[in-house]
Amino acid sequence: MANDKVSIHGAWASRWVFILAATGSAVGLGNIWKFPYMTGMYGGGAFVAMYLLCIVLVGVPIMLAETLIGRRGRQSPVNAMKSLALEAGASRHWSLAALVGLVAALLILSFYSVVAGWSLDYIIGMGRGDFRGISAEGAGAAFGGLTSDPWRLTLWHSLFMLVTAIVIGKGVVAGLERSLRIMMPLLFVLLLVLLGYSLTTGHFMQGFDFLFHFDPSKVQDGILAAMGHAFFTLSVGVGSIMVYGSYMPKKASIGSTVIAVGLLDTLVALTAGLALFPIVFAAGLEPGGGPGLMFVTLPIAFGTIAFGQIVGLVFFVLVAIAAWSSSISMLEPAVAYFVERSGRSRALVTGMLALFCWVVGMGTVLSFNIGAEAKFFVFAEDGFHLYQWGAEGGRNFFDSIDYLTSRILLPLGGLAFALFAGWAMNREAVRDELAIKSPLLFNLLYWLVRVVAPVGVLIVFIAELSK
Ligand code: TRP
Repeated sequence: MANDKVSIHGAWASRWVFILAATGSAVGLGNIWKFPYMTGMYGGGAFVAMYLLCIVLVGVPIMLAETLIGRRGRQSPVNAMKSLALEAGASRHWSLAALVGLVAALLILSFYSVVAGWSLDYIIGMGRGDFRGISAEGAGAAFGGLTSDPWRLTLWHSLFMLVTAIVIGKGVVAGLERSLRIMMPLLFVLLLVLLGYSLTTGHFMQGFDFLFHFDPSKVQDGILAAMGHAFFTLSVGVGSIMVYGSYMPKKASIGSTVIAVGLLDTLVALTAGLALFPIVFAAGLEPGGGPGLMFVTLPIAFGTIAFGQIVGLVFFVLVAIAAWSSSISMLEPAVAYFVERSGRSRALVTGMLALFCWVVGMGTVLSFNIGAEAKFFVFAEDGFHLYQWGAEGGRNFFDSIDYLTSRILLPLGGLAFALFAGWAMNREAVRDELAIKSPLLFNLLYWLVRVVAPVGVLIVFIAELSK
């Protein structure tokens, strides 16, 4: 059955714009901020190896599934899945996965906006020259000064959320293309500049080893973390890619496009890791230092190199833009859905949803300072507590939301999307949508979506539970 429908929310001009938008969504804080600090926390090479494996065997196939569901459905993820379920004679309850995904995306946006706010603060700090010749202690203190100040965090969080909402309110298709065409390549060039710097630290090989030395005894420690991050960094599991797929032109090939996005995303993450870790070791910092890793190490580099102030300034501007092109993709699935459902204006729906994310994000803001002792999911001697002030163990608000989304909701959402494309939709619909000429290649991709990706998710869950 030919499918010439167009989404009511707009359409990308070409396949190239889809690549740009999907890469804009995928490349963000996940690559530059989260990937290095997770790698540090989970011991290096084993985490990286698991992450790469999950990208190839689970993440990219699920991205393929999401894109094809979106493009065939031509509506918000929830309604796309409903109508495709109808077309295939399957249960409409499949769309529940997209509904959960839409909420997960909003939860991710809530903390993403706070961290993106840090990079806004660093733009100012760089511009003022705060980091000139800074020591490792000084950089740590500067970061601590930021996160311990709830007002400053709130200011930047609010500003970032506002900018995200403005673009989404106007419509993604209109706003995105122009800015990304220049910014994304520039971000990559600056990462290469940082990589050049890390080559001069004398600790490059130590950083390299840390990233790529595979220690099998550490695999189980971070296996779910690695898979969760593979979902996070590719933006899959919540419908972000699906909603972008629904704006994709019919003629574009999904398979090669998705592979290109996966490659670009991985390249950026590995470059960021290679640039960061030599600096970490040269400065005598702890690789397992947690979420502050990038914000403590990079100022040291920018404080030393020639023109560091201006390079650093531009760098944090680009990080903010990369974060922004990701954050809009978290809001879009929900906005598209509620516009379809309520018939209200895009601007109104966007405003309401952004407000929701802003409020939840305040929990993350406070978890770095006055609310640091508010702990959730506490397993204590006297049993399990959902919430306890000042408990040993447990997770603070930010960690809880991050854990709930990245490690539980994203993999489960992705699992549902893969099963839907692989088993609920009929094979001919998938074949028609993918339009791959070589039967061998089609069968390979179809098998990855139907079998490998779902089994991969289940294996990781089981391995985690038996830890
Ligand atoms: N992939 C983005 C990053 O690495 C974040 C992101 C955008 C995302 N959309 C998403 C994560 C949807 C999970 C789900 O920064």
